[in-house]
Amino acid sequence: MMQRGWIALAASALVLAGAACGRASESASAAAAKGPPPLPAPETLSSRPKAGPGEWLYLEKCAMCHGPGGMGTGLLARRTEQPLLEKRTDLTVDYVVQAARMGIGNMPAITRGEVSDADMDLIARHLARAGEGGQ
Ligand code: HEC
Repeated sequence: MMQRGWIALAASALVLAGAACGRASESASAAAAKGPPPLPAPETLSSRPKAGPGEWLYLEKCAMCHGPGGMGTGLLARRTEQPLLEKRTDLTVDYVVQAARMGIGNMPAITRGEVSDADMDLIARHLARAGEGGQ
């Protein structure tokens, strides 16, 4: 009984090791052939030359996680119908400031050293307004 357990364990370890090696070499050769997979077009300051101050700050301080393909967008897709903060119609200034300052779920708290109160207010106003068609 004991021995069979060990054999099963060793066998599954081999299977796992094989699978890991297979995947690693497969993806390495695919990457060499095709280059890295295309990323979604990044939301950057240069992609939105007409951005107002709140939008500008959002792009600088939040969009790396909350833009298309970002970690925040991915996690919010699990619990909200609209994962992009800029497309939400239900965000209030208070909620955005609160979430950003306290941190929420997997989002780290954004400190005043990173984003001043005045800047956070502009970002929150941008997000609270964004869903209303303005940007
Ligand atoms: C390091 C990545 C990261 C950065 C930077 C970031 N966020 Fe987030 N944010 C997240 C993640 C991840 C979540 C989802 C948290 C969860 O549900 O676990 C989130 C959630 C939120 C939510 C909650 C939305 C909801 O429906 O509850 C708000 C509001 C928010 N972020 C605002 C901001 C603002 C404003 C900034 C910029 C000042 C910002 N975030 C910067 C990762 C980030």
